[in-house]
Amino acid sequence: MQKDLAMKKITVNLEQLARSSYDICIGNDIEGEIAQLIAQSLALSAPMRAPAAVISDSNVMSIHGERFLESLHRVGINATIVPFPAGESSKNILTVTKLAESLLDLGMDRSSKIIALGGGVVGDVAGFVASIYMRGIPHIQIPTSLIAQTDSSIGGKTAVDLPQGKNLLGTFLQPAAVFIDVRFLATLPEREFSNGMAEVIKYGLLNGEEFFSYIESNIGGIMHRETSALMAVVERCCRIKKGIVEIDEKEKGSRRFLNLGHTVGHAIEAAADYQISHGEAIAIGMLAALRLSSAILQLPNSVGERVERILRTAGIPTRLPSSVDTAAIFAKLKTDKKREGNKMNFILLQDIGLPLVADNVLQGLLTAIIEDLRQ
Ligand code: GLY
Repeated sequence: MQKDLAMKKITVNLEQLARSSYDICIGNDIEGEIAQLIAQSLALSAPMRAPAAVISDSNVMSIHGERFLESLHRVGINATIVPFPAGESSKNILTVTKLAESLLDLGMDRSSKIIALGGGVVGDVAGFVASIYMRGIPHIQIPTSLIAQTDSSIGGKTAVDLPQGKNLLGTFLQPAAVFIDVRFLATLPEREFSNGMAEVIKYGLLNGEEFFSYIESNIGGIMHRETSALMAVVERCCRIKKGIVEIDEKEKGSRRFLNLGHTVGHAIEAAADYQISHGEAIAIGMLAALRLSSAILQLPNSVGERVERILRTAGIPTRLPSSVDTAAIFAKLKTDKKREGNKMNFILLQDIGLPLVADNVLQGLLTAIIEDLRQ
């Protein structure tokens, strides 16, 4: 894979779905360019002085907020930061109504734009607000975490959680643009960076041996956050995701493959009351999916072993803590939105790069695998 650090532009082509296409721009230390590009897109659709709200969380705001806001003001954008407390516990409808009231206080109207600056929670919540505020206003995604840069900022899924489970309220609203500055990853806490690696490994497993082996052989450089490795990984994941979203925006077909590890993973997250992070839960969910794949589809055990090795090198726990009860995981599986009637859908692998949707997973087999992942 290339070591080219120039800014990359990837277009998500959605004309065939009668939607506006949009660009994903990826670079290193491109805050100035991002502000210019946002100014250009605002000038196309609204008076420059129309207020824009930067929705962010308390963590991202304290590290990046001031500098980012200055870059917007420098190019004449009338932007204000609207923060909410960081963490999954803020991903709820109360945060959405509070944010909407703040936007009203700022005088945001239907010509205003929302800029989501933050990780996966910020992107999902800000996108949700954008999709319902005054029946919908445009938003721009500026992802700052590895999970958001490689996955959640692209493709238009927005969501908040309900007490019963994760992402149970949500909409599809494609962003007007996605701007990715890998410089943001330099300040990401180690555990959050590791979390993102679970999604990166997922893309390797879905895409094929070449990208999977790249991750395996370059895990040192990636974990040291070498710019060239980060650019290569982020660009590759974005290209894979754009290809899927272009043909299946609403997750009726191949977009379901992106849920590899997420059926069990989301149930673990919710059963643990979000005391286990998304990435850590997805990692264990992915190991469960690979073991199911070995039992049902004869996927070589070596695939699961390779994934476990990469996860360990990436600092991600590969065992389920005893505090998370198997019965609680199954209770949460029952509220999974990927469920169709009584059928639970699991994404399994016939081989690296060959996913399929299985709805015939026996509860006994899954229970045994979950128990085995505790040792
Ligand atoms: N995060 C999976 C998807 O966007 O479909």
